[in-house]
Amino acid sequence: MPNAIVTGATGILGREIVSELGKDPKTWPNVYALSRSKKEDYPFNVKHTHLDLQGDPKQMAKELEHVDAEYVFFTAYLAQDDEDDATKVNGDMLQNFITALKLTGAAKKIKRFILTTGGKQYGVHFGRPKNPMHESDHWLTNPSYPSNFYYRQQEILKKEAEEVGFEWAVTYPNDVIGVAKGNFMNLVSAIGIYATVCKELNQPLIWPGSPHFYTMFDSFTDSTLHAQFNTWAAFEPKAANNAFNVVNGDIESWQNLWPKVAAKFGLNVPDKMFNDKDLANEFGDDGLIMPLQEIPPISEFAKEAGLVGSPVNRQSYVHGKLDLSKWAQRNEVKVAWKKIAEREGLDREALEHATWGFLNFVLGRDFDLVISMSKARKAGWTGYRDSWESIEGALERLVGEKVVPAFK
Ligand SMILES: NC(=O)c1ccc[n+]([C@@H]2O[C@H](COP(=O)([O-])OP(=O)(O)OC[C@H]3O[C@@H](n4cnc5c(N)ncnc54)[C@H](OP(=O)(O)O)[C@@H]3O)[C@@H](O)[C@H]2O)c1
Repeated sequence: MPNAIVTGATGILGREIVSELGKDPKTWPNVYALSRSKKEDYPFNVKHTHLDLQGDPKQMAKELEHVDAEYVFFTAYLAQDDEDDATKVNGDMLQNFITALKLTGAAKKIKRFILTTGGKQYGVHFGRPKNPMHESDHWLTNPSYPSNFYYRQQEILKKEAEEVGFEWAVTYPNDVIGVAKGNFMNLVSAIGIYATVCKELNQPLIWPGSPHFYTMFDSFTDSTLHAQFNTWAAFEPKAANNAFNVVNGDIESWQNLWPKVAAKFGLNVPDKMFNDKDLANEFGDDGLIMPLQEIPPISEFAKEAGLVGSPVNRQSYVHGKLDLSKWAQRNEVKVAWKKIAEREGLDREALEHATWGFLNFVLGRDFDLVISMSKARKAGWTGYRDSWESIEGALERLVGEKVVPAFK
């Protein structure tokens, strides 16, 4: 029976992989969960080991002395404000980790190494992508773009796999729906806090994001589905040396999800949420207008698709009817949250810790994100999630984490 190593064990995606492997001790008798912090207790087949991936590989090798495995799931991630810094930091973490496993001798035992990356593969942070997004789409090489840390990580992985002699697989999740203890870099936590405050203030659940994105399409990844995909990708022969999109596989848009969020909190969505000014992206002081890269990724495909000169090549924006970073700083919001937190026994810091800038981005884009699951399906993957059920499940788990009050 194989051993497994999971890096990023406390993260929104890594935590679910640990949990998935932890549930199946017959298949996975030894799971090494690696991160700097330890946030929860594990079943008997999971051993948590402290590891700082920013350390020197020789030091890391000492910490990894008794750790070896046939399957490695790498989900560690350190967010940086600057994309070039992200490439340096996250690329180095992966490289140093593999170097440390080579120093201990454990690298020789690896059969398959599964790396988690994401939708930034397609430049979804730069602007309108080519839709639908396929794993075979060429990488974005426009020199005006900042570096992409996923590209560096995948290059490192492929090179090391060839040199050491193991197989690799890479996942591309997008807009992850899940819950991690004490981790607020999570769109459902921020939505839950926003709705909770709207309810306390007797306000309807106004859509804070882009009026245009409200009726466009997004692709979400349930963190538990991603974990199941990882175990499938570990053993499936057709997954060897391949990268895969990993999204829920349903078709979703906030025009369908937002009223369901409102109903979950006992709130209404106003009949007329957008006026002509909103639709023209003229928002006043409460709003948000943020340009993305001058050249959107779709431009890199314009020639072959016959789209040269088309308006789709215009610069993309993140728009918000309500800039949530400013909203969270409003006095009435802070007072309301303090009151709710005291009354309901919630985490008082949650309002401040929630990643409002990230939610602005996720709800504010002015382009569709349609990610194809065809490649995984052709390889035999049958997993699927209904994204509303993912969101509802995550909201209910946040009750246990003391981020939102219990649903009546
Ligand atoms: N969350 C999303 O919506 C989303 C969407 C698409 C793609 N992705 C991608 O998925 C991957 C995983 O992201 P995530 O959202 O799961 O990240 P996350 O929730 O922020 O978790 C990051 C994990 O990395 C660990 N880590 C950070 N620095 C470390 C260090 N120096 N040494 C050891 N461990 C370290 C953290 O543990 P400690 O702090 O305890 O060390 C934590 O367990 C990333 O590539 C991300 O870009 C995420």
